[in-house]
Amino acid sequence: MLLEQALVLVLLHCALASVQRVFSAGFVDSGVASNGLGVEANVSTLHLSALSSETYAVLSHPRFPYHQVRVKKTNFCDPTVNVYTGYLDVDYGAKHLFFYFFESRHDPDQDDVMMWINGGPGCSSSMGLLMELGPCQIDMKNVSSNGTVWNPYSWNEKANIFFLDQPVGVGFSYADHGETVETTEEAAKNVHAFISIFFETFSQFKGRPFHMSGESYGGRYLPVFASEVVDQNQIAVAEGRPTINLKSVLIGNGNTGISTLYEGRYEIECGKAALDVPIQQISKCVRMKMALPRCTKGIEKHCGNYFDSIDCAAAVNFCDNEISTNYWASGRNVYDVSKMCIGDDLCYLENGAIKAYLDLPATRSLLGVSSPNNFSACSSDVGRLFVAHSDKWSHPTEYYVAGLLERSVRVLIYAGTYDWQCNWVSNKLWVDRLEWSGQDAYAREEWREWEVNGRKAGETKSAGRLTFATIRGAGHMMTEALAMVQRWLDGGSL
Ligand SMILES: *[C@@H]1O[C@H](CO)[C@@H](O)[C@H](O)[C@H]1NC(C)=O
Ligand SMILES: *[C@@H]1O[C@H](CO)[C@@H](O)[C@H](O)[C@H]1NC(C)=O
Ligand SMILES: *[C@@H]1O[C@H](CO)[C@@H](O)[C@H](O)[C@H]1NC(C)=O
Ligand SMILES: *[C@@H]1O[C@H](CO)[C@@H](O)[C@H](O)[C@H]1NC(C)=O
Repeated sequence: MLLEQALVLVLLHCALASVQRVFSAGFVDSGVASNGLGVEANVSTLHLSALSSETYAVLSHPRFPYHQVRVKKTNFCDPTVNVYTGYLDVDYGAKHLFFYFFESRHDPDQDDVMMWINGGPGCSSSMGLLMELGPCQIDMKNVSSNGTVWNPYSWNEKANIFFLDQPVGVGFSYADHGETVETTEEAAKNVHAFISIFFETFSQFKGRPFHMSGESYGGRYLPVFASEVVDQNQIAVAEGRPTINLKSVLIGNGNTGISTLYEGRYEIECGKAALDVPIQQISKCVRMKMALPRCTKGIEKHCGNYFDSIDCAAAVNFCDNEISTNYWASGRNVYDVSKMCIGDDLCYLENGAIKAYLDLPATRSLLGVSSPNNFSACSSDVGRLFVAHSDKWSHPTEYYVAGLLERSVRVLIYAGTYDWQCNWVSNKLWVDRLEWSGQDAYAREEWREWEVNGRKAGETKSAGRLTFATIRGAGHMMTEALAMVQRWLDGGSL
């Protein structure tokens, strides 16, 4: 258990750069979908309504000669809308990225398109789908005949949304010949290919406003992925090709400005940033407070700007030993300080139930899964590869955020106040320090409460395209989160 916890600690650590191994394995034959489903189309653009649940459509695009999409309709999760699942086969067809796509419950032909990704690195987006914001939730009470229950607070209430398992090796995504993606910068290329092909092939969404969202390690992924989209757009404009209409990035409980992470954790367990009475023992808090300046300084000195893999790893090791181990020893849920850690090492009973459900042959066939692997909520192999490159620590990811803000992309940084792992205090600190043209205006803004149905939901502050928001109390955030997202998509304040 301890060993496993240590591994997950490394894995989920709200965590650089390498060479991706690319094997030219030859392109998957468009006519043979590997799960045995038939093929009904071989075209470069398609209206999704033309799809059926019996067969995969295979889409290729002349601009992406080494990629193709396999997609089918499915009766999974939300009977009130059209649902599609499928694979993007990238890099000569040897890497297969799995996605779920749900049309909007409101007006699919007009509503914006969102992407959701979970963190890890290595965790499947079906976790966010089935536990947090998706159109259905895993049935924990055995009340449903189909394994899931419909979620009235799903983010597809007013947006078309897809959930992507990335990088390869995560969830139902897989590679044919052991290819791996080991850094965020590398992963960005496959994600960009995915998004481009999505908009070019599903013709009704072409040019639609697009929002990239996610959580936790998504705080590292999303700024880099969104920057890849912006940079590739610039090349597309120069070459007279269509661009992706990226409007905003939403990051929930992310790990973006990593030098502030431990300071924030201290405030969650030893201060009053989450609960009125700190949960940690006084003696441990004193020791942590004494270690904090050295920890933060070590990270600032050896990670990010001045990255040195050995010194950075030593600094992180010091921080973890002096600061993180006490929390783990407390038995609390690392994502919710108000709860104890239950279930497996991810601290939620839902994890086991989701795995059991997704591993059912009937579920796999409903989804059209062709991965040879069983499902795992978080892939320890993918996690280990990213950790081996110090992906979490090697780049100051907040610079990407500043770059996006200066190029017309709106950014929402939000955080539930009970999370310890990727906590709100850390996020507030890096956002306060972020260097961009709106920094002074942001500093001058007053904090204000934002409300849902007359109840205080949290606090927020914005300047220009940047908004920061807290959501008070994790665990009960469904209504608040949906209200927040809808107000954000509408372009107003929270
Ligand atoms: C699909 O289209 C591509 C490009 O036009 C072609 O090379 C391939 O043979 C087609 N596959 C099938 C199964 O028709
Ligand atoms: C599954 O069953 C639940 C409860 O019986 C129902 O709310 C939901 O709509 C069903 N989902 C699908 C995809 O049919
Ligand atoms: C769930 O309910 C079904 C039928 O109502 C029953 O057969 C099954 O044993 C229950 N499963 C659990 C885990 O309680
Ligand atoms: C998947 O799980 C089943 C049942 O636990 C097991 O028999 C099988 O070997 C597993 N497959 C893989 C590829 O790990």
